[in-house]
Amino acid sequence: MASSTSRPRLENKVAIVTGGSQGIGECIVRTFVKQGAKVVILDIKDSLGELICQDLGVEFVSYIHCDVTLESDVENAINTTITRHGQLDIMVNNAGIADWPKLSILDNDKADFEHVINVNLIGVFLGTKHAARVMIPKCSGSIITNASVASITGGLASHGYASSKHGVIGLAKNVAAELGKYQIRVNCISPYFIPKSVPMSFYHKDENTIVYSNLKGKTLGRQDVANAALFLASDESEYMSGHNLVADGGFSVLNPAFGLFSLDKIEA
Ligand SMILES: NC(=O)c1ccc[n+]([C@@H]2O[C@H](COP(=O)([O-])OP(=O)(O)OC[C@H]3O[C@@H](n4cnc5c(N)ncnc54)[C@H](O)[C@@H]3O)[C@@H](O)[C@H]2O)c1
Repeated sequence: MASSTSRPRLENKVAIVTGGSQGIGECIVRTFVKQGAKVVILDIKDSLGELICQDLGVEFVSYIHCDVTLESDVENAINTTITRHGQLDIMVNNAGIADWPKLSILDNDKADFEHVINVNLIGVFLGTKHAARVMIPKCSGSIITNASVASITGGLASHGYASSKHGVIGLAKNVAAELGKYQIRVNCISPYFIPKSVPMSFYHKDENTIVYSNLKGKTLGRQDVANAALFLASDESEYMSGHNLVADGGFSVLNPAFGLFSLDKIEA
């Protein structure tokens, strides 16, 4: 599947991608397969996941039904991957949900908050734990969690979502500290938002703001996130661990309200 002119960047590697049936996860699956990996999709959207397997070839991609909030599902899925392929080199904790932000914390229900935390944080904990279980004996592996720019910046998403994404960064740092002695790397990706996958009606639409992107003429696409995942999965990032790779075009390091370099000034 990889280009004949260069070695595939994930040659001989086996990867799991949670939430790989659609969206960013699907793009990561396709990118990894192009780079020579065998990929196992864990998701709850069975028919979409199976379609990807048919499309890319069942010798390269397989599907396991797995609700990441259930430890027995995650444990079984990792065990089945080992039975199938004999190894797990890359774990991508990508499955996640977003809820519609309620603008007052007083309107936020405990159950809604718990639901988001359950998928986005507990799910990542379980994926990390069971991936580590099979990686530790091999003293090798790369664990990657798809966080969000909401992991480092407030005011972008619901309280539950922001809390869950901040939580996975802390988890990754702590697990990186533990697993370094086994040569297992643990990193996160924090994408800005992908315009078509987030309801734009929620956000301001003033074209002179950087709500869409700080990089003129460029908005974030799924492939940008998959490329970041590919880097962290490959040996090219072999000295990176405990890192949060922010893919936001610079959004989170600037204050748009100050406006010193705003678009209208540059164009004037
Ligand atoms: N889309 C964006 O703009 C954006 C920006 C920053 C971060 N993210 C993060 O990227 C990840 C993927 O986002 P997306 O936009 O591709 O989402 P998506 O909704 O298109 O896909 C998410 C996938 O996760 C699966 N999933 C949900 N709950 C699950 C569970 N309990 N067990 C197993 N699978 C489950 C879904 O079935 C789906 O296939 C999420 O963690 C999200 O928070 C997305």
